Amino acid sequence: MLKLAVMVSGGGTNLQAILDAIEDGTVTNASVVKVISNSKKAYALERASKAGIPTACVTRKDYPEPESFNRALLAALQESGADLVVLAGCLVVIPQLVVDAYPNRIINIHPALIPSFCGTGYYGLGVHEAVLARGVRVTGATVHFVDGGTDTGPILLQKAVEVRQGDTAKELQLRVMQEAEWKILPKAIDLIANGKVSVVDGRVVIAD
Ligand code: GRF
Repeated sequence: MLKLAVMVSGGGTNLQAILDAIEDGTVTNASVVKVISNSKKAYALERASKAGIPTACVTRKDYPEPESFNRALLAALQESGADLVVLAGCLVVIPQLVVDAYPNRIINIHPALIPSFCGTGYYGLGVHEAVLARGVRVTGATVHFVDGGTDTGPILLQKAVEVRQGDTAKELQLRVMQEAEWKILPKAIDLIANGKVSVVDGRVVIAD
Protein backbone atom coordinates (compact mmCIF):
# COMPACT_ATOMS: atom_id res chain seq x y z
CA MET A 1 0.00 0.00 0.00
CA LEU A 2 1.53 3.31 -1.11
CA LYS A 3 1.24 5.90 1.65
CA LEU A 4 0.55 9.42 0.36
CA ALA A 5 1.19 12.76 2.03
CA VAL A 6 -0.74 15.40 0.08
CA MET A 7 0.40 19.02 0.27
CA VAL A 8 -2.24 21.69 -0.34
CA SER A 9 -2.68 25.46 -0.25
CA GLY A 10 -6.23 26.21 -1.30
CA GLY A 11 -9.59 24.73 -2.26
CA GLY A 12 -8.33 21.13 -2.43
CA THR A 13 -10.26 20.01 -5.51
CA ASN A 14 -7.24 17.96 -6.59
CA LEU A 15 -7.09 16.38 -3.12
CA GLN A 16 -10.80 15.61 -3.44
CA ALA A 17 -10.21 14.00 -6.84
CA ILE A 18 -7.59 11.73 -5.24
CA LEU A 19 -9.88 10.80 -2.33
CA ASP A 20 -12.80 10.11 -4.67
CA ALA A 21 -10.63 7.98 -6.97
CA ILE A 22 -9.38 5.89 -4.04
CA GLU A 23 -12.97 5.55 -2.83
CA ASP A 24 -14.33 4.39 -6.22
CA GLY A 25 -11.40 2.08 -6.93
CA THR A 26 -9.95 4.06 -9.84
CA VAL A 27 -6.80 4.28 -7.72
CA THR A 28 -5.65 1.07 -6.03
CA ASN A 29 -2.89 0.25 -3.55
CA ALA A 30 -2.72 3.78 -2.21
CA SER A 31 -4.00 5.66 0.82
CA VAL A 32 -3.72 9.26 1.99
CA VAL A 33 -2.08 9.22 5.42
CA LYS A 34 -1.60 12.98 5.90
CA VAL A 35 -2.67 16.32 4.40
CA ILE A 36 -0.26 19.19 4.99
CA SER A 37 -1.22 22.78 4.22
CA ASN A 38 0.84 25.95 4.26
CA SER A 39 -2.36 27.91 4.92
CA LYS A 40 -4.60 27.51 7.97
CA LYS A 41 -7.51 28.79 5.86
CA ALA A 42 -7.22 26.19 3.10
CA TYR A 43 -10.60 24.54 2.48
CA ALA A 44 -8.56 21.45 1.56
CA LEU A 45 -8.07 20.96 5.33
CA GLU A 46 -11.86 20.71 5.71
CA ARG A 47 -11.97 18.09 2.97
CA ALA A 48 -9.26 16.08 4.74
CA SER A 49 -10.98 16.28 8.12
CA LYS A 50 -14.31 15.17 6.59
CA ALA A 51 -12.45 12.15 5.21
CA GLY A 52 -10.90 11.44 8.64
CA ILE A 53 -7.39 12.14 7.43
CA PRO A 54 -4.84 13.67 9.85
CA THR A 55 -3.80 17.19 8.90
CA ALA A 56 -0.96 19.54 9.70
CA CYS A 57 -0.29 23.17 8.95
CA VAL A 58 3.29 24.23 8.26
CA THR A 59 3.27 27.93 7.53
CA ARG A 60 6.39 29.86 6.61
CA LYS A 61 5.45 32.92 8.67
CA ASP A 62 5.40 30.78 11.83
CA TYR A 63 9.16 30.26 11.53
CA PRO A 64 11.87 32.87 12.21
CA GLU A 65 13.91 31.97 9.16
CA PRO A 66 13.52 29.79 6.04
CA GLU A 67 15.78 27.00 7.29
CA SER A 68 13.57 26.29 10.31
CA PHE A 69 10.49 26.20 8.05
CA ASN A 70 12.29 23.77 5.72
CA ARG A 71 13.20 21.50 8.64
CA ALA A 72 9.65 21.63 10.03
CA LEU A 73 8.21 20.68 6.64
CA LEU A 74 10.63 17.77 6.28
CA ALA A 75 9.82 16.59 9.82
CA ALA A 76 6.07 16.70 9.14
CA LEU A 77 6.52 14.61 6.00
CA GLN A 78 8.86 12.10 7.66
CA GLU A 79 6.56 11.73 10.67
CA SER A 80 3.70 10.90 8.32
CA GLY A 81 5.56 7.85 7.03
CA ALA A 82 4.59 8.76 3.48
CA ASP A 83 6.19 6.95 0.55
CA LEU A 84 5.06 9.56 -1.99
CA VAL A 85 4.52 13.29 -1.57
CA VAL A 86 1.76 14.71 -3.80
CA LEU A 87 1.62 18.48 -4.41
CA ALA A 88 -2.06 19.11 -5.12
CA GLY A 89 -2.74 22.80 -5.66
CA CYS A 90 0.33 23.47 -3.51
CA LEU A 91 1.87 26.90 -3.87
CA VAL A 92 4.95 26.26 -1.73
CA VAL A 93 8.32 26.00 -3.49
CA ILE A 94 9.58 22.69 -2.11
CA PRO A 95 12.92 23.20 -0.30
CA GLN A 96 15.95 21.32 -1.66
CA LEU A 97 16.20 19.64 1.78
CA VAL A 98 12.84 17.95 1.09
CA VAL A 99 13.56 17.20 -2.57
CA ASP A 100 16.81 15.47 -1.52
CA ALA A 101 14.96 13.38 1.07
CA TYR A 102 12.37 12.22 -1.48
CA PRO A 103 14.22 11.65 -4.79
CA ASN A 104 11.64 10.92 -7.53
CA ARG A 105 9.06 10.56 -4.75
CA ILE A 106 7.40 13.97 -5.05
CA ILE A 107 4.89 14.66 -7.82
CA ASN A 108 3.20 17.93 -8.76
CA ILE A 109 0.19 18.86 -10.88
CA HIS A 110 0.77 21.92 -13.04
CA PRO A 111 -2.20 23.47 -14.88
CA ALA A 112 -0.47 23.78 -18.28
CA LEU A 113 1.41 21.61 -20.78
CA ILE A 114 5.01 21.88 -19.53
CA PRO A 115 7.34 23.35 -20.92
CA SER A 116 4.71 25.93 -21.85
CA PHE A 117 3.43 28.44 -19.28
CA CYS A 118 5.43 27.12 -16.35
CA GLY A 119 8.26 28.10 -14.03
CA THR A 120 8.57 31.01 -11.65
CA GLY A 121 5.46 33.18 -11.54
CA TYR A 122 3.20 30.70 -13.38
CA TYR A 123 0.66 29.39 -10.87
CA GLY A 124 -3.09 29.34 -10.32
CA LEU A 125 -5.27 31.63 -12.44
CA GLY A 126 -2.23 33.48 -13.85
CA VAL A 127 -1.33 30.42 -15.89
CA HIS A 128 -4.66 30.56 -17.71
CA GLU A 129 -4.49 34.34 -18.14
CA ALA A 130 -1.12 33.86 -19.88
CA VAL A 131 -2.57 31.07 -22.06
CA LEU A 132 -5.42 33.34 -23.20
CA ALA A 133 -3.09 36.31 -23.73
CA ARG A 134 -0.85 34.20 -26.01
CA GLY A 135 -3.86 32.93 -27.95
CA VAL A 136 -2.91 29.24 -27.93
CA ARG A 137 -5.62 26.83 -29.07
CA VAL A 138 -4.68 23.98 -26.78
CA THR A 139 -3.61 23.94 -23.15
CA GLY A 140 -3.90 21.25 -20.48
CA ALA A 141 -2.21 19.88 -17.37
CA THR A 142 0.97 18.03 -16.48
CA VAL A 143 1.97 15.70 -13.67
CA HIS A 144 5.73 15.70 -13.16
CA PHE A 145 8.27 14.60 -10.61
CA VAL A 146 9.66 17.44 -8.54
CA ASP A 147 13.37 18.12 -8.73
CA GLY A 148 15.29 21.19 -7.50
CA GLY A 149 13.70 23.53 -10.05
CA THR A 150 10.22 24.97 -10.58
CA ASP A 151 8.12 22.72 -12.85
CA THR A 152 11.34 21.23 -14.30
CA GLY A 153 11.29 17.57 -13.22
CA PRO A 154 10.60 14.48 -15.38
CA ILE A 155 7.13 14.52 -16.93
CA LEU A 156 4.85 11.61 -16.01
CA LEU A 157 1.45 12.39 -17.57
CA GLN A 158 -0.10 15.19 -19.62
CA LYS A 159 -3.62 15.80 -20.92
CA ALA A 160 -4.64 18.40 -23.51
CA VAL A 161 -7.65 20.67 -23.14
CA GLU A 162 -9.22 22.84 -25.88
CA VAL A 163 -9.20 26.62 -25.44
CA ARG A 164 -12.59 27.92 -26.60
CA GLN A 165 -13.37 31.28 -28.22
CA GLY A 166 -14.44 33.73 -25.53
CA ASP A 167 -13.11 31.69 -22.62
CA THR A 168 -12.45 33.67 -19.46
CA ALA A 169 -9.48 32.62 -17.34
CA LYS A 170 -11.84 31.24 -14.70
CA GLU A 171 -13.81 29.20 -17.27
CA LEU A 172 -10.59 27.83 -18.72
CA GLN A 173 -9.16 27.01 -15.27
CA LEU A 174 -12.28 25.04 -14.40
CA ARG A 175 -12.18 23.12 -17.69
CA VAL A 176 -8.49 22.27 -17.21
CA MET A 177 -9.23 21.04 -13.69
CA GLN A 178 -12.31 19.03 -14.71
CA GLU A 179 -10.97 17.54 -17.95
CA ALA A 180 -7.30 17.17 -17.05
CA GLU A 181 -6.06 17.75 -13.50
CA TRP A 182 -8.68 15.71 -11.70
CA LYS A 183 -8.03 12.81 -14.11
CA ILE A 184 -4.27 12.65 -14.56
CA LEU A 185 -3.26 13.24 -10.93
CA PRO A 186 -5.18 10.17 -9.67
CA LYS A 187 -3.99 8.21 -12.73
CA ALA A 188 -0.37 9.10 -11.94
CA ILE A 189 -0.79 7.96 -8.34
CA ASP A 190 -2.35 4.67 -9.47
CA LEU A 191 0.54 4.00 -11.88
CA ILE A 192 3.14 4.67 -9.16
CA ALA A 193 1.20 2.71 -6.54
CA ASN A 194 1.14 -0.30 -8.87
CA GLY A 195 4.82 -0.20 -9.70
CA LYS A 196 4.41 0.92 -13.31
CA VAL A 197 6.65 3.99 -13.20
CA SER A 198 10.41 4.42 -13.29
CA VAL A 199 12.72 7.32 -14.14
CA VAL A 200 15.57 6.45 -16.51
CA ASP A 201 18.14 9.08 -17.54
CA GLY A 202 15.80 11.84 -16.41
CA ARG A 203 12.81 10.59 -18.38
CA VAL A 204 9.78 8.70 -17.13
CA VAL A 205 9.19 5.12 -18.33
CA ILE A 206 5.68 3.72 -17.87
CA ALA A 207 5.36 -0.08 -17.99
CA ASP A 208 2.47 -1.44 -20.07
C1 GRF B 1 -5.46 24.17 -9.66
O1 GRF B 1 -5.51 24.73 -10.96
C2 GRF B 1 -4.05 23.67 -9.40
O2 GRF B 1 -3.43 23.11 -10.54
C3 GRF B 1 -3.37 24.94 -9.04
O3 GRF B 1 -4.30 25.56 -8.15
C4 GRF B 1 -5.62 25.27 -8.60
C5 GRF B 1 -6.50 24.86 -7.44
O4 GRF B 1 -6.06 23.62 -6.95
N1 GRF B 1 -2.08 24.73 -8.46
P1 GRF B 1 -6.88 22.88 -5.73
O5 GRF B 1 -8.34 23.09 -6.03
O6 GRF B 1 -6.47 23.56 -4.46
O7 GRF B 1 -6.47 21.44 -5.80
